[in-house]
Amino acid sequence: MLKIITIPNPILRQKAKKIADVMDPKIQKLIPQMTEIMLKEGVGLAAPQVGESIRLIIVKYKDGSVAMINPRILKKSILKEWGEEGCLSVPGKYGEVKRSKKLTIRYTDEKGKAKTLNAQGMLARIIQHETDHLDGVLFIDKARKIVELNPNE
Ligand code: CO
Repeated sequence: MLKIITIPNPILRQKAKKIADVMDPKIQKLIPQMTEIMLKEGVGLAAPQVGESIRLIIVKYKDGSVAMINPRILKKSILKEWGEEGCLSVPGKYGEVKRSKKLTIRYTDEKGKAKTLNAQGMLARIIQHETDHLDGVLFIDKARKIVELNPNE
């Protein structure tokens, strides 16, 4: 069972490594495991959040999810918007982050196929949040109006 790590775990601050072999059984096992957690707990999940410093993210997409291996944002709109974010690795904190409204991302899917996706709005925001994780960047580094909610209150 995978466990979500939280700050100040140093893995969250590392630059994650590129995945050389998508068909590696470890990767093939990790993708459905991460997908399950993501669908249950949030709208996106990056491998460093489960303690694996590798370039893999899972994002909520339409009625399901998409796994992106070695994702690379090719283009980001100059036009940005503020929106509220939170993160499973930063429990209880929320804040507004300014993100590009649209982007184009290139990635390898779980079968090893190269894909390109145009995203906007919420999907573009999730992709930017999750790809930041791969570079050791957390939303609290960029957020304004951070609020802390005590889950026991
Ligand atoms: Co996050």
